[in-house]
Amino acid sequence: MGHRFLVTTAIPDPGFQLLSDAGEVTVLPEPPDYETLAAFCASGDFDAVLTQLRDVVDAPLLAGARVKGISNYAVGYNNIDIDAATRHGILVGNTPGVLTDATADIAMLLILGAARRVVEADRLVRDGKFHGWEPELLLGRDVSGAVLGVAGFGRIARATARRALGFGMQVIFSPRPPGDRPVSEDELGEFAGKVQQVAWSELIERSDFLSLHVPLNEDTRHLVDAQILGRMKPDAILINTARGPVVDEAALVDALRSGVIAGAGLDVFEDEPKLAAGLAELPNTVLLPHVGSATVRVRSEMARLSALNAIAIAEGRLPLHPVNP
Ligand code: DGY
Repeated sequence: MGHRFLVTTAIPDPGFQLLSDAGEVTVLPEPPDYETLAAFCASGDFDAVLTQLRDVVDAPLLAGARVKGISNYAVGYNNIDIDAATRHGILVGNTPGVLTDATADIAMLLILGAARRVVEADRLVRDGKFHGWEPELLLGRDVSGAVLGVAGFGRIARATARRALGFGMQVIFSPRPPGDRPVSEDELGEFAGKVQQVAWSELIERSDFLSLHVPLNEDTRHLVDAQILGRMKPDAILINTARGPVVDEAALVDALRSGVIAGAGLDVFEDEPKLAAGLAELPNTVLLPHVGSATVRVRSEMARLSALNAIAIAEGRLPLHPVNP
């Protein structure tokens, strides 16, 4: 019998084709709720499950699962309890690399959009309130010369730093706050002499723009809370393209309302798709629906990688991009 794959939400080509060539594919008509996904995983009907970051694959689900592995259609895998998967001998794969540039583009877009008040400007034009050029219409912030603080120094952090340098920003970074091991001169590579490594506290206090590029885990949940927001510059802008729960969103709304910081550009939210109360009403925010990796090419590359991961798992091999041993 061929391999059997469960795909929780349809993915673009060539993902489906690769899976169909390797076996039998069941694509669910709509994203499953937790109980439905748990029942499918426990059914013994599938070798590998191709999940989305909306699918919660926690310890109880994994304890009952009769699958060889999970292929997550994302680079992030905070939706999966990796320790539990490892304990139950369930392999997990992800899709790193292919979405780095697209996500860094969105970080840069949010930096520019928040600095230059693009949402307010767009709305003004659409509302028929543009009455001609004015000396003081919608004045924003200069990006060139401003300090970009990068939290993290992984692939997307570095790609964002590269773009920011191109825009004439001064880039400082803190590897994996708080208190992670510093990046060595060797590891700095192309960035040596161009970016400055600082402590987490200095990053918070010096950044004109603070861009978050850390994975979500127990150390980074609410990394940016009321206390950290209170230490940022009053004219600082927070950018989040990583994961929503890295920021205490209710505290962010308070900080934006009361002028503790000046603005925010967010592609991710704490409880997606819901927004914290009051966030959508704030003019000093740019809000995107988690589209960091949303280009035709990237999503199709993610589909290819996640299909190949699932096929490798079904065949009893390690996924191309294994998250756990
Ligand atoms: C990821 O891959 O982790 C992104 O958040 C979605 O592409």
